[in-house]
Amino acid sequence: MSETPKHDCKRSRANCQSVESHLLNLLRRLSFNLWYLRRPPWDSGIVPPEVEDYLTTHHPGRALDLGCGTGTSTLALAQAGWQVTGVDFAPRAIAIARRKLRLAKVPGDLRVDDVTRLHDISGPFDLVLDIGCFHGLSKGSRAVYLDNLDRLLAPGGYWLMYGFFKSAPDAPGPGLATEDPGAIAVRFRFLWRKDGFDKKKRPSAWFLFQRNAHPLSLPRWRRPGGK
Ligand SMILES: C[S@@+](CC[C@H](N)C(=O)[O-])C[C@H]1O[C@@H](n2cnc3c(N)ncnc32)[C@H](O)[C@@H]1O
Repeated sequence: MSETPKHDCKRSRANCQSVESHLLNLLRRLSFNLWYLRRPPWDSGIVPPEVEDYLTTHHPGRALDLGCGTGTSTLALAQAGWQVTGVDFAPRAIAIARRKLRLAKVPGDLRVDDVTRLHDISGPFDLVLDIGCFHGLSKGSRAVYLDNLDRLLAPGGYWLMYGFFKSAPDAPGPGLATEDPGAIAVRFRFLWRKDGFDKKKRPSAWFLFQRNAHPLSLPRWRRPGGK
């Protein structure tokens, strides 16, 4: 009787995993699109103080808002003089975001796209903002996302990210695991985190990471400790 060679088993396992993650992504997209038929609970219309603080302490440049939803923070960035691109895979959210920017008469590039694709987007961006998108991605999608981050961030550019934590490391569903920030810090320089709780009393945190660059290659105001 012929046996299936080991490498064929490995390949078919990898294929199954990729089909599974593709299906999961499809389901997530469907569910987010359904959320946006009404006003989803996270869509408070309030710019988080961490974003406000960032805007008052950093020079405007190019910003990419990943999983921008209806564009509350994208709009704040644009109004603060940033050249913004917002991306979300929910067309309805992007339609609302476009309307917000149009009504406020500020420019912005809002696109329906998947944060694990972004093939038509090119950097360099000084800031990538992510409020509640990265923490919901599967392990495979996060790896692609981080590759995109590396490609799109300017050397020394910042990633300001908010996410909540899983209740247990193997709990199903969205959320960061306790060890995730440490794993990210292997690729991106960890600057600070601010811990808190979300509306559902889940532990959550804001993080600021920076794409590595030789300090002398950076403008003075972006060097560690620089103004
Ligand atoms: C919790 S909501 C936050 C929205 C927005 N950042 C805010 O603060 O209101 C997460 C957003 O990420 C988007 N999203 C999730 N996965 C995505 C993906 N793979 N590609 C693009 N957008 C995604 C969802 O459609 C949703 O709008």
